[in-house]
Amino acid sequence: MKTIGILKELNNDNRVCMLPEPIKKLVSQGINVLFESHAGTGLGLLNVEYQKAGAICTTAEKIYEEADLICSINHRYNNETLNSEANFVGVFNPLFHSKELKRYSEWTSVYSLDLLPRSTIAQNMDVLSSMASLAGYKAVVMAANYLKSSLPMFTTAAGTIKPARVLILGAGVAGLQAIATAKRMGAIVEAFDVRSSAGEEVRSLGAKFIEVEGAQESTTAGGYAISQTEDFQERQKQLIHNSTIDADIIISTANIPGKKAPLLIKANTVEEMKKGAVIIDLASEQGGNCELSQNNKVIQHNGITIIGNSHLSKAIPNAASQLLSNNYLNYINLFLKDSNNELVKSTQVVEKGEIIHPKLQELNTHNLIQ
Ligand code: NAI
Repeated sequence: MKTIGILKELNNDNRVCMLPEPIKKLVSQGINVLFESHAGTGLGLLNVEYQKAGAICTTAEKIYEEADLICSINHRYNNETLNSEANFVGVFNPLFHSKELKRYSEWTSVYSLDLLPRSTIAQNMDVLSSMASLAGYKAVVMAANYLKSSLPMFTTAAGTIKPARVLILGAGVAGLQAIATAKRMGAIVEAFDVRSSAGEEVRSLGAKFIEVEGAQESTTAGGYAISQTEDFQERQKQLIHNSTIDADIIISTANIPGKKAPLLIKANTVEEMKKGAVIIDLASEQGGNCELSQNNKVIQHNGITIIGNSHLSKAIPNAASQLLSNNYLNYINLFLKDSNNELVKSTQVVEKGEIIHPKLQELNTHNLIQ
């Protein structure tokens, strides 16, 4: 019988990778589920809720010793004694945080769900889409809270307040959700992306798509954007500069997997923005789209609020845990059925202590674990 262990997230991350409900489904299939005591405390869930689902309450140490599949969202392992068959499953962003993989010892295997292909067959396990969608929504709600004005137009006997102008940089999953949310809240929305296919999606949500001609795209990038030429970047920054000056809110989401995020808003552009405007930089963990943003910080610059946060789904931990739970459940079921399945293999970063993922090998990180 397989044993699955669910660890508690640390560092003020109140999400869990599995809620009691999906655990019930695993237990009903005869799978042994251990959970770390207080795993759900951040969501107000008591241990008894997990126990009612059939899971066994224990310590992290016991989970490391007994579980075959050790599940968390963030890295938790730090050289504790392990089951000789231990497999770690998480959302580890190894393309950007490859050094973190040093912590895994010789006989462990590591799987990271963010490496799943962005294709229809992997959709029900796609943690990136789940978290990006929530982050796009939350970014607009958070920006609205920081903004010193309103998003919709107000027509009153005392006068009219103009609708807010919202600029979205990067119209992927987070960006499209941000557009939809800002539109629902009555703002005027425009968006940029380097992928031409994003234009149609932006327009279908009722926003204006601003295009910079000459963007490079690659059919081998799995739907992701690729780095652009210096000439393109300069022209893009200029066009963004013009839209930025009019914007009340900017939500920037532009990323390229495994690379530093493209710099789209220069410091001098921020200096010219309207006082009271708000920038939320969802790419801050990978260097940020705004020159001034600082990861995990809210700063004030010349009357502009700049928020660097690449994990806004943490600010809605309940919704995030519900989506993650279903993603993990679908992935675990596939893993248990056939760990050599093509999709499972696409997520494997480490096999018995050795980095095996081709994208990480390209980055020359195979000798990290010593
Ligand atoms: P991401 O988080 O890697 O990047 C966000 C957005 O930034 C992307 O739309 C990207 O094109 C854009 N971007 C990158 N560099 C830029 C620049 N210099 N200027 C402006 N924008 C820039 O992307 P995300 O949201 O993870 O989506 C990646 C791809 O996966 C997209 O093509 C998306 O449609 C696709 N996808 C497909 C799914 C499926 O089931 N078929 C599910 C989810 C995503």
